[in-house]
Amino acid sequence: MATILVFNGPNLNLLGTREPQVYGSATLADVEQLCRDAATGLGVQVQCRQSNHEGVLIDWIHEAGREHAAGRVIGVVLNAGAYTHTSVALHDAIKGAGVPVIEVHISNVHAREAFRHHSYLSPVASGIVVGFGIHGYALAMEGLVARRAPG
Ligand code: DQA
Repeated sequence: MATILVFNGPNLNLLGTREPQVYGSATLADVEQLCRDAATGLGVQVQCRQSNHEGVLIDWIHEAGREHAAGRVIGVVLNAGAYTHTSVALHDAIKGAGVPVIEVHISNVHAREAFRHHSYLSPVASGIVVGFGIHGYALAMEGLVARRAPG
């Protein structure tokens, strides 16, 4: 069965206690359960990972590219947290890996501080889901399945 990879970046392990007025009260475990439920509904498998380290996220994107080339992975749902706004290296990794990546943000970053308005990832993302709370992860998974090449 085809797989979707869900990667969460820095500080998303703090969901539930971190700025609940911005990110809500759901924990990372709740997000991962939501993704597993969405996967069941979509008829795919999902693997969820979280890291606070830029290089680890880059390694996972490279691995996703290899798994995509082998036909095992449909794409990646990526909430890169603050690296979204800083990381040329993640931009290059997504570009180089050749795997569809959907950029997700729980909050509406465009309604927040100016430094969150720019994303290094958006130009190389296959799609962007912003401001739907944690439901955005399920929307991104649905989008990946909908645009999957037939066969
Ligand atoms: C975030 C938005 C980013 O600006 C922030 O640094 C995060 C979370 C979101 O999901 O809304 O860590 O990606």
